[in-house]
Amino acid sequence: MCRWSVFVSGHGSNLGALLEIRDRYPIELVVSSKADAFAVTRANKAGVPVKIVDDEINWDELYESLQAKEVSHIFLAGFMKIVPSNFLKKWDKPIINLHPSLLPSYPGLRSIERAYKDKAPIGVTIHQVTEKVDSGDILLQQEVFSAEEAQKHSLKSVTEEVHRIEHQLVCKAVEMLCKT
Ligand code: GRF
Repeated sequence: MCRWSVFVSGHGSNLGALLEIRDRYPIELVVSSKADAFAVTRANKAGVPVKIVDDEINWDELYESLQAKEVSHIFLAGFMKIVPSNFLKKWDKPIINLHPSLLPSYPGLRSIERAYKDKAPIGVTIHQVTEKVDSGDILLQQEVFSAEEAQKHSLKSVTEEVHRIEHQLVCKAVEMLCKT
């Protein structure tokens, strides 16, 4: 049985997509690096326990909290912190991350904007988390716009479409991982 923890820092629209399928893929704990993130409101509304972590995360304590909830899988969905290598070594179960680009292109911040400005293809990637930011084996990847197609739209509408596809892909990733 898959028991998820979703790590967030912001709006939490991807958390929202995952909350919709939580009857099949339960979310045991939402971990937020920001107390006032809208993601926290979403989790509270859904009645899912939330743990707010400090700016300086106590990863040992967080590990214990996850173990106490018998979490098996971690999804970083807009989590703006780096997971340290000693936590990754200790956590021997899946940890995946969502990123709004066709990795390995455009890791890091403002990926959609940078790819759009470079007239590059635009997409979404879900990958295993490793010590290096936005790297690790790719689980799912989808092009949302070819380079040419993206330029026919505004950056705003490209961004909205990327988020819409993200919401589909996060659910697909959860289904994929929980089948195996
Ligand atoms: C998403 O675009 C995700 O790819 C990136 O951060 C954003 C989080 O959005 N890592 P939300 O908080 O899920 O709305």
